[in-house]
Amino acid sequence: MRDIGTTLISEEQIQNRLREMGEQITTDYEGRDTILVAVLKGAFMVMADLSRYIRLPVDMDFMAVSSYGAATKTSGVVRIIKDLDQEIAGRHVLIVEDIIDSGLTLKYLLKNLAVRRPASLEIAALLVKTGIQEVPLDVRYVGFEIPPDFVVGYGLDWVGRYRNLPYVVTMSDDDLQGSPLD
Ligand code: IMP
Ligand code: MG
Repeated sequence: MRDIGTTLISEEQIQNRLREMGEQITTDYEGRDTILVAVLKGAFMVMADLSRYIRLPVDMDFMAVSSYGAATKTSGVVRIIKDLDQEIAGRHVLIVEDIIDSGLTLKYLLKNLAVRRPASLEIAALLVKTGIQEVPLDVRYVGFEIPPDFVVGYGLDWVGRYRNLPYVVTMSDDDLQGSPLD
């Protein structure tokens, strides 16, 4: 695997921040029936690491969504490919996300999940791109605020590849030339 992009957040920085977030979540959710909900595929890595820093017997579930419309930009209209296996009524739901870009996907999901009457509904996101959310989102736990550039690694893909990098890199226009298989 060749080196791509420029390191934006190192493996150590990610783990340190996730540990802090996990400790905060442990304090906040103590004594609650909590279910962590990750949105596939990107959030699988955050889910795996963040959940290990949460010292509570949390439940876990996964959703998969795909957005309708133009391929390159989120339309905000989302199709649920895989729904939750479990009921969330009366339970404390914490959505675990890799990155919030326009925020449209999450806004749709929040609306969809709120209808099911959870006791609470909050978001933990490792990365939030600054200044570009078309809708203000109230994100309870933010790992890092980053510039609105295209990033890859730690669950985030470049045409399906490089999700398994343990750190996050920024891709310049030059980096994005050629194929991820080169
Ligand atoms: P949003 O609806 O625009 O917030 O879209 C968020 C989704 O787009 C994320 O869950 C990612 O899957 C994907 N995404 C957004 N920005 C990036 C990026 O910089 N690199 C890789 N995937 C991204
Ligand atoms: Mg995602």
